Amino acid sequence: MIPHFPLVPYANIPDIIPPAFERRFTPRADSQFLLWLSEQTTANIVEIGCADGLTTYQLAVHNPHKVVYAVDIGDTAEMAAMQQKNETPATGEVCKLAVGLPNVQLILRDSKLVNYADFKDVSMVFIDGNHTYEGVKADTHLAMRALMRSKFDAKFVAWHDYCEGPHPVGWLKVGEYLRAEIDGLFDVFFVPGTSVAFCRVP
Ligand SMILES: C[S@@+](CC[C@H](N)C(=O)[O-])C[C@H]1O[C@@H](n2cnc3c(N)ncnc32)[C@H](O)[C@@H]1O
Repeated sequence: MIPHFPLVPYANIPDIIPPAFERRFTPRADSQFLLWLSEQTTANIVEIGCADGLTTYQLAVHNPHKVVYAVDIGDTAEMAAMQQKNETPATGEVCKLAVGLPNVQLILRDSKLVNYADFKDVSMVFIDGNHTYEGVKADTHLAMRALMRSKFDAKFVAWHDYCEGPHPVGWLKVGEYLRAEIDGLFDVFFVPGTSVAFCRVP
């Protein structure tokens, strides 16, 4: 069982909402925790799976001096074949809430093809893309490998849609993957009151 993070550090973090948004994938407490985590590190942020860009917007406004690299596959044939296809905006609308901000860069690409060498100074990766076992594993490998090589002291990977026990949505395997392959290798924590898990990368 992945241990619970002993602090609830996010109560006073504002939940920054853009003027117009239609749907929310990442609940308030989850966003607030991610914003708190972003304060614990100094360099740029990668979000894998940005959808409409609500969390991208929040991370970018909360961290005006950091770049947020927002990655999404968009409305491609590969995506249309997946269970998650209803989450993906039309390709022209990906990250629409945040793409106008000066510190947001949108990368329209399958996340397993992302090259972290294209990003400058990353110290936090938020993984919220392909939630199948193989998808979250591929995203985690790339993020861990990049962060373990980077020079910063405080580096974090956070995952969305962690669930203790099997997820009620059967194909959503973030928890199963983290328990099977990350817990024990890295100090990973679940944040109670959210569906976020995270670890500090050595
Ligand atoms: C749950 S939504 C993300 C929500 C967003 N992080 C937020 O907090 O508002 C999942 C997104 O992951 C994207 N996605 C799924 N598989 C992907 C892949 N292989 N590469 C990049 N993005 C992917 C989908 O297109 C979708 O927009």
